[in-house]
Amino acid sequence: MLDLSTQKIQDESRQGEAYAPFANDENLYKKHFYIESYGCQMNFADSEIVASILQEQGFGATRNLEKADLIFINTCSIREKAEQTVRKRLTDFKKVKKANPGLLIGVLGCMAERLKAKFLEEEKLVDLVVGPDAYRSLPALIEEAETGQKAVNVLLSREETYADIAPVRLDSNGVSGFVSIMRGCNNMCSFCVVPFTRGRERSRDAASIVAECEALYQDGYREVVLLGQNVDSYHFLNEAADETITFARLLEKVALISPELRVRFSTSHPKDITDEVLYTMAKYENICKYIHLPVQSGNSRILQLMNRTYTREWYMAKVDRIREILPGCGISSDIITGFCTETEEEHQDTMRIMEYSRYDLSYMFFYSERPGTLAARRYTDDIPLETKKRRLAEVVALQGRLSRESNERDLGKTFQVLVEGPSKKNPLEWMGRSSQNKVIVFPKPDGLQKAQYVNVEVTDCTQATLIGKIRP
Ligand code: 5AD
Ligand code: SF4
Repeated sequence: MLDLSTQKIQDESRQGEAYAPFANDENLYKKHFYIESYGCQMNFADSEIVASILQEQGFGATRNLEKADLIFINTCSIREKAEQTVRKRLTDFKKVKKANPGLLIGVLGCMAERLKAKFLEEEKLVDLVVGPDAYRSLPALIEEAETGQKAVNVLLSREETYADIAPVRLDSNGVSGFVSIMRGCNNMCSFCVVPFTRGRERSRDAASIVAECEALYQDGYREVVLLGQNVDSYHFLNEAADETITFARLLEKVALISPELRVRFSTSHPKDITDEVLYTMAKYENICKYIHLPVQSGNSRILQLMNRTYTREWYMAKVDRIREILPGCGISSDIITGFCTETEEEHQDTMRIMEYSRYDLSYMFFYSERPGTLAARRYTDDIPLETKKRRLAEVVALQGRLSRESNERDLGKTFQVLVEGPSKKNPLEWMGRSSQNKVIVFPKPDGLQKAQYVNVEVTDCTQATLIGKIRP
């Protein structure tokens, strides 16, 4: 899914740092919760739903662990390392609990779903285990846990979309907001744990999506990121109007809110992204020209083992189509090295498809077998770890060159940039993003505010960042 940071090769960091919520109105509340999120943007969006449910119950958000009555960790299971990170963090929380025995610790999200009640045996100081479709039951579960019982709800749902819950924005920059448009996934890629942790795919009511985007715009946001595991298979039946709303139609509805509101989306499955979506992107300037199109492997035999349902040639034709309909569109990818039985030649196919696609950015991982997945049941995880890592290093080095070349192609060009705020490295410089999702850093003129649009000419670049100056 779309990342807010620069090129990353590792798990959790892929979607930015774990974060704790902004302590807005801290003193208004008698009880406080602290929440940390790991994994994909979907998980971060879910934490904002959880925050809303907790606030309704009279819990205020805090950044301060010592002040918390409730600590939640929203977890990711996608790779083994993601789970290890969560376990490590739990040991910190358990220390806090020893000093404050009334404190409740809850595990949310994908790891809760994967491990279910087993979590409570493995991690004795955890009080609540709540899966991604069970957040509405949090008030009852907290009550149960307050009486000293362990509380678990990991039921998956075929309907839950939390459509009616207005997320409480946590740690937001006030410029760009996540909007979840669907949940779950029906794809069954053989390496992936998501269908097991997030259940069947379901689309959220389009009217509630548009209303949430409108509310963000009214609050001063200038970018919405429509989120789903597979956004291109979004479809919602509007019975009143007897109309099926496809993803292309939804994109259009959101784009029409205001030309000043940018629209991004993530993630697209190459098999599902349609010409209709590409033409809709071309039609509206405020739909960002950036597509995250995970290839996973560049070899057709491996793609078949992965159950990706496309071939190398089919993927390449999709890239051609994007370049034809949307010249200058940014394309990024996810890549897995060392999948079961992958040969050196097949690994070279992945390198070749990266060159062909000229990715601006990739998220690259070595294969990590996940219990219960199709691949774990059907295939042997037979590529030695050193080989997986060496192939990963090769892919990372190649992407480094491709990213640099992509940035060099932008030298001398001027981009419309949505200003996000001060750059991390130098507060005298500010940063924003181009439509193509590239970070651009530039000297801050007096009076510049975040959420403004400026035109920036690119004068220099590194592998990860464009450097420029504002043009009148
Ligand atoms: N091992 C390594 N990477 C994985 N991904 C998903 N499952 C695994 C796994 N078992 C990667 C894919 C996916 C991204 C979100 O994480 O590249 O697109
Ligand atoms: Fe991690 Fe996937 Fe769950 Fe997101 S959906 S938190 S990436 S396992």
